[in-house]
Amino acid sequence: MPQTMPTQPFGVNQVPVSRIALGCMGLAGTWNPAEVGPENTRRAIAAFEAALDAGITFYDHADIYGGTACESVFKDCLAAVPGSRDRIFIATKVGIRAGFYDHSPDYIRESLRGSLKRLGVEYVDLYQLHRPDPLSHPAETAQVLDELVREGLVKNVGVSNYYPHQTAALQKYLEAPIVSNQIAISLLRLDPIYEGAAGGRAQSGNATCDAGDGVLDQCEEMGITPLAYSPLGGGWLSGRREAPADNAPVARTLDALRELGPAYGGATPGQLAVAWLLKHPAGIIPLVGSNNAEHIREAAGAAAISLSREDWYKLWVAARGVRVP
Ligand SMILES: NC(=O)c1ccc[n+]([C@@H]2O[C@H](COP(=O)([O-])OP(=O)(O)OC[C@H]3O[C@@H](n4cnc5c(N)ncnc54)[C@H](OP(=O)(O)O)[C@@H]3O)[C@@H](O)[C@H]2O)c1
Repeated sequence: MPQTMPTQPFGVNQVPVSRIALGCMGLAGTWNPAEVGPENTRRAIAAFEAALDAGITFYDHADIYGGTACESVFKDCLAAVPGSRDRIFIATKVGIRAGFYDHSPDYIRESLRGSLKRLGVEYVDLYQLHRPDPLSHPAETAQVLDELVREGLVKNVGVSNYYPHQTAALQKYLEAPIVSNQIAISLLRLDPIYEGAAGGRAQSGNATCDAGDGVLDQCEEMGITPLAYSPLGGGWLSGRREAPADNAPVARTLDALRELGPAYGGATPGQLAVAWLLKHPAGIIPLVGSNNAEHIREAAGAAAISLSREDWYKLWVAARGVRVP
């Protein structure tokens, strides 16, 4: 019996999606499609079933994940759970090629065809430009994205790793609204919120005017949903993956997360790190990356945690290593 996970409205049709999404970058367990065997598929299906059971309805892919293997193995996941396609929201991305970026219309069309075929679906719920391509004019990219929406192959358009001015430039030419911006945000990547711990101003001790890069402010202004990638800092904030001994922000942040655990019913550091993102009023959806069913269940538990304002700031201060001025 699937658990209930809180949802939030997303995209043009305000479809309810789970507050936590599954990042599928590691779903195939390899970046070499030739290496995918029955054990990779079995593990991916177990991860998918665990995510569904935990109430996760949002799945994030890219054409390049697993060297295309992640989208292909997801087709097996969908087949293993009949009816699942209609219950979930599938996102994928385009634009990164071998050694360069490409938002040209022909390439976008070709890549989407490949994604739809590998996933075995007729449309994707969200199509995201993976990283800005300085050699494509936003007008030509916008035109093809609007065509794909009109053709019904793409339900929503999103961007990833876009600064506010880049989002605004694309939106100027795009009829479809940009509904999401997928960016690195976590206790170890604070720039979208405020200048990060490694930022020059924070290090110099002048932390009175750290405005951040403005991405979350723009999301709030324009009704764009921020999708947080690497919410566990690539695994370090789970507290189970060894970080370099000289990485002081990781050590400080983990200490603070561990200290707060007992006050939140024994929550793990990873759960609190995800809950920290959920607390932000921009409606951040953390994309937890895992192909381990147990880890997925654990991460999903974060949705039940409501951090206090005081504890949110405690974690933020620990991560930055700079006190609130
Ligand atoms: N747009 C972009 O440019 C971009 C870039 C990077 C990522 N992404 C997206 O964001 C998603 C997440 O990114 P990420 O993989 O870097 O993020 P992450 O969630 O911060 O870290 C994932 C890593 O943490 C490990 N992990 C998770 N839970 C754990 C636990 N309880 N104990 C121990 N280890 C645990 C996972 O290993 P196990 O598999 O063993 O659990 C995995 O190696 C990706 O899948 C992708 O969808 C997007």
